[in-house]
Amino acid sequence: MSATIYQPSADFVQKAHVAGMAAYEALCKEAETDYQGYWGRLAKELISWKTPFTKVLDESNAPFFKWFEDGTLNASYNCLDRNVEKGLGDKTAIIFEADGGEVTKVTYSQLLAKTCQYANALKSLGIQKGDRVVIYISMSIEGVAAMQACARIGATHSVVFGGFSAQSLRDRIEDTGAVAVITADNQVRGGKLLPLKSIVDEAIALGGCDAIKNVLVVKRSGADIAMTAGRDLWMADVADQQATTCEPEWVSAEHPLFLLYTSGSTGKPKGVQHSTGGYLLHAALTTKWTFDLKQDDVFWCTADIGWVTGHTYITYGPLALGGTEIVFEGVPTYPDAGRFWKMIQDHKVSIFYTAPTAIRSLIKAAEANDAVHPKSYNLSSLRLLGSVGEPINPAAWEWYYEHVGGSRCPIVDTFWQTETGGHMITPLPGVTPMVPGSCTLPFPGIQAAIVSETGEDMPNGQGGILVVKRPWPSMIRNIWGDPERFKKSYYPEDFKGKYYLAGDGAIRDEKTGYFTITGRIDDVLNVSGHRMGTMEIESALVSCTELVAEAAVVGRPDDTTGEAICAFVVLKRALPNTDEGKAIAKQLRDHIAKEIGPIAKPKDIRFGENLPKTRSGKIMRRLLRSLAKGEEITQDISTLENPHILGQLGQAY
Ligand code: PRX
Repeated sequence: MSATIYQPSADFVQKAHVAGMAAYEALCKEAETDYQGYWGRLAKELISWKTPFTKVLDESNAPFFKWFEDGTLNASYNCLDRNVEKGLGDKTAIIFEADGGEVTKVTYSQLLAKTCQYANALKSLGIQKGDRVVIYISMSIEGVAAMQACARIGATHSVVFGGFSAQSLRDRIEDTGAVAVITADNQVRGGKLLPLKSIVDEAIALGGCDAIKNVLVVKRSGADIAMTAGRDLWMADVADQQATTCEPEWVSAEHPLFLLYTSGSTGKPKGVQHSTGGYLLHAALTTKWTFDLKQDDVFWCTADIGWVTGHTYITYGPLALGGTEIVFEGVPTYPDAGRFWKMIQDHKVSIFYTAPTAIRSLIKAAEANDAVHPKSYNLSSLRLLGSVGEPINPAAWEWYYEHVGGSRCPIVDTFWQTETGGHMITPLPGVTPMVPGSCTLPFPGIQAAIVSETGEDMPNGQGGILVVKRPWPSMIRNIWGDPERFKKSYYPEDFKGKYYLAGDGAIRDEKTGYFTITGRIDDVLNVSGHRMGTMEIESALVSCTELVAEAAVVGRPDDTTGEAICAFVVLKRALPNTDEGKAIAKQLRDHIAKEIGPIAKPKDIRFGENLPKTRSGKIMRRLLRSLAKGEEITQDISTLENPHILGQLGQAY
């Protein structure tokens, strides 16, 4: 951990929603003394309920916890109508900037009207409460409205990131049993027109999507696309004629707001199921306290709505508080690597939330070219910075602090997960002295701890397994259709079955008690803040049956992407020479892009006649990890059946 401590300025502290360490400690104390009272109070303050809840937490069927269950509400009402009712109808809700730079703004009244038209359109197609709707769309006002429209009618949305392949999309459509897909004709990223609708067609043609009745297509590019009669409809044709009002469907707080697929230790991604009430409470609360969002802020979270960060800190959190936010279609390096800084300058962004990978790649670009260095832009509107998705290395933190934040903006390094719904361990900007590389202290009310493999508390200074000791409102409720896997993944028996297991290792500082995340303890990789299972990539490789006999995937550190994917492959043919190796590696990467998506392409591919195995046939993964890092093998290899393989695996393609 870095030794330097950075204090929030007195001015920031004074104006913050949570101001000073004493305020933070008082909140933690309140939660400790009366856990249910604390969350119940906040749920009443931040959420508008149609019928109030009478019970905060139901632990009777642990670990299937229920929060505010007999309360009813609607997420879209909370994000839209109530802001209009408060007089914020003419306030800008979303500033959308397209890939090419065109800007469109919508007010709360306009976003409400569009959401209602979409909601009525869905209803006109027979979609109702409890149905699942898959959304496969790029960053857009329409994407946010589609999510809000589902929430409005009580349909459970499942957004699939636009970079996933037809196969991945098909798997998610099948697993959710979705009745409709909302997509766009195309997406535009980095000046390129990329398909969306044709991938939906391909996904459905792969079979298993029998529940799908309609595909609704938002027009983005206007390019020619195929429409299947009786199934495919232009969103405008269905929605434009609809009324701009739509009575919200009042649902129980436990009603599933969304499913979002994420990678675990096995080959099959899991559908993380989130609730409506508890989720929305934490989305709003963390936006308020961690981002200190105020009425005159311009908030920009650069994540895609296809990831949980986009759900919580684009679609729900900032809108629930009546904030103004940026939605950006493009990429940070187009037309050049100054795009983020230019947009902060143009839109006077005051709170900026991005991923360490983006920062690291922009540092490289800025150091090579002054024109795209933050110093060439006016970033004086910024007052707070955030980081998410992966550990931020102290050097990147310090650059972000100095060059983007002008040494005046606190940085919130927010640790959380798809499963946690919102921030878990994070500085609060008006409270916490910051240490680069540490996510510091638990959010008030979150009982994070570090324990041994048998669930005993570890003393500070000694690393261990990160757990959460008590349920919290926005926690995962289930893995869609697989409660056994839910229990096994997050509340395993050998952990006494009582703590939530995050899947990360962590250590607390001896003096400050600050948490530092040391990385996943399962077979999950984090590449550019995107989560991927090694087994998922291995399954994709071996599904290339004409080429691959066996495959093993490990991660290795990478300066820009945090971790990089390294695949070890046994081919069905003889070991390739260099030219053949290059060609086969390309073929395998293309295959993975087709099976999962381009984000899962391995950076390195190595070939061997076999994988290093023990005499009992177990793959020695620690050796693979050393090879991937380019380390000399110093481990004991006496149990290795086939030591000559190590020499073959030296070359990376
Ligand atoms: O390993 C942790 C890492 O990202 C994982 C969660 O990934 P995902 O579900 O895709 O959600 C990402 C966005 C919330 C965690 O298990 N991670 C996330 N944030 C941090 C982090 N690691 C270190 N520091 C963080 N701030």
